[in-house]
Amino acid sequence: MIPEGRTEHLLLKPLALADAPQIQAVFPHWEIVKYLAAVVPWPYPPDGADRYLREVALPAMESGSGYHWSIRLAAQPAQIIGCIALFPNNENENRGFWLDPRHQRQGLMTEACAWANDYYFNVLGAQRLRAPKAAANLASRRVSEKQGMRLIHTGEKDYVSGRLPSEIWELTAEEWRAWKARRKSVAGA
Ligand SMILES: CC(C)(COP(=O)(O)OP(=O)(O)OC[C@H]1O[C@@H](n2cnc3c(N)ncnc32)[C@H](O)[C@@H]1OP(=O)(O)O)[C@@H](O)C(=O)NCCC(=O)NCCS
Repeated sequence: MIPEGRTEHLLLKPLALADAPQIQAVFPHWEIVKYLAAVVPWPYPPDGADRYLREVALPAMESGSGYHWSIRLAAQPAQIIGCIALFPNNENENRGFWLDPRHQRQGLMTEACAWANDYYFNVLGAQRLRAPKAAANLASRRVSEKQGMRLIHTGEKDYVSGRLPSEIWELTAEEWRAWKARRKSVAGA
C-alpha cells in the first residue's frame, strides 16, 4: 500500500485510474513536456493518460518498481495539479515530476520533493537518489540545487523537444539528512 502524503500546502495521493481525465486535461502542454524524456508521446494522444496509467504507472505501483502520486493543493484536494514519482530500482532515474504551469514558481515542487525524498530515504530505505534532466531545464535544476543535490554526469539525451545536453544529479541519504539538519538549525537559530 502506497500512503498519501501531506505537506504544508499539498496533498499527495497515490495515482489511480480515475485520475486519467484530470491528467489528460493538464499534462499535454508544451511547457510541461518539452524537457521530458522522448518516451512521452507527442503530440499526446487523446487516451495518453489512460494508457500511461494502465500500462506504466499502475503496474509499476503493483510490482513495487514505481511509486506515483498525484499532487493536489491541500486547500483544493479534488483538483490534480501535477505528479511526482519515485523509482527506487532504477540506476540513474529515481525521481520524476511535473506541475501545471499555473502553479509553478511558488515553491510547490520543492515542497513535494522534500516529502518524496523523505519517503525515498526513510521509508524505502534507499541510499542514493539520482535525477536526470535536460541542462536547459533551469527550473528542474534549481529544485535539485535548492535541496543539496550534486551534478555528477553530463551527456546528451533525447527529449520531447529533440536531442539536448543532459545531466544527472545525485543526493545520498546521508547528504539529505545533513541538509535537513542544517535547515532545521538555521530555522531554529
Ligand atoms: C520543474 C518544475 C516541476 C518545477 O516546479 P515548481 O513548483 O515551479 O518549482 P519550485 O517553485 O519549487 O522551484 C523552481 C525554482 O526554479 C526557478 N525557476 C523556474 N523557472 C526558471 C527559469 N526559467 N529560469 C531560471 N530559474 C527558474 C524558480 O525561481 C525556483 O527557484 P527559487 O526558489 O530559487 O526562486 C516545473 O517547472 C515543471 O513542471 N516543469 C515541466 C516538467 C519538467 O520539466 N519536469 C522535470 C523533468 S527533469
